[in-house]
Amino acid sequence: MNTIRVNLENKGSSSYNIQIGHGIVDRLGLMIKKEHPAGLYVIITDSRVKNLYGDSFVSLFKNLDLPVEMLVFPAGEESKNMATAMSIIDALISLKADRQTMIIALGGGVVGDLAGFVSSIYLRGIPFLQVPTTLLAQVDSSIGGKTGVDLAAGKNLVGAIYQPRGVFIDTKFLLSLPEREWMNGLAEIVKYGLIEGGEYLALLEENLPALKTRQPEVLHGVIEGACRIKAGFVEIDEQDRGVRRFLNLGHTLGHALEAESGYDMSHGEAVAIGIATGLELSRRHCHLPAEDAKRALTLMDELGVPRTIPGHADTGALMEHMKRDKKRQGQRINFVLLKRLGMPFVTGGVSEQLLIETIEGLKG
Ligand code: GLY
Repeated sequence: MNTIRVNLENKGSSSYNIQIGHGIVDRLGLMIKKEHPAGLYVIITDSRVKNLYGDSFVSLFKNLDLPVEMLVFPAGEESKNMATAMSIIDALISLKADRQTMIIALGGGVVGDLAGFVSSIYLRGIPFLQVPTTLLAQVDSSIGGKTGVDLAAGKNLVGAIYQPRGVFIDTKFLLSLPEREWMNGLAEIVKYGLIEGGEYLALLEENLPALKTRQPEVLHGVIEGACRIKAGFVEIDEQDRGVRRFLNLGHTLGHALEAESGYDMSHGEAVAIGIATGLELSRRHCHLPAEDAKRALTLMDELGVPRTIPGHADTGALMEHMKRDKKRQGQRINFVLLKRLGMPFVTGGVSEQLLIETIEGLKG
């Protein structure tokens, strides 16, 4: 098992550990009992994860005579809203949860975002732990404290930056992950490869066959590397006002594609296409060298992530979505682009004309 420290001491938040290993969930009860004592543990999960792991996870606590309850909501992004948050809060009140209660988010991104958000507002904040079960949650959403819910007007429009007390990543969960969920996480891994470049990008390129077959040792290295990169950005810019925004490579168009598809397109598919668009914009706007773009596209193809904008996507509607993006400043749409692999920057200076031409050029 390896540990990565997220150092936030001077930032007003507490530092915490990300612990990664294959099969660590079997020891989780003991680790949590020792490192995170609490009066009551409340596991928050969704119906899918509950069916797979719920009972055995609860037993980890019961076997140690730790007081534990489990709250379950229906799986899916449709649940990530204020109504679900309020129903969890009502359940916490019924359980007489207090500030000595520890919430445990067991699941993917929706579970982590919702459980973290509820933890941030219930009694003005109670502690929570992340136990991510999907690749996306393990490399991205469980780290860094972004929590929240969706509104009819858009995703993640209400929320808080509220850090967990610890993150426990068991790569064993990934062996049974459905292909579409796997793809969701791969797109974020490509993102880390392109913004970090150097050794991390080489690690991905050198281990493609083993990564595709989810070989545990390679998975461990790739996930640990992603967590270290993410932790580094969060330490420097917890509040997402500066360099942390580099982690949004591919997300400006990605969020627009997701919304325009009525969320039929998965986050990972949309982000992968957004990354491919970012590469083309980088080539045309800031002279990303052709060999860097080719290297990035080869990695994407090898991993099997999509990079073509659906031909039926309405460019005008995508532009409107991007103009409403929460990362915009005034009328300017902000993009993360690359000067070179490993050299990201944020710009609001891409002209509408160039953007429209690039989107049209990438339609399949
Ligand atoms: N998912 C990007 C971030 O946490 O900043």
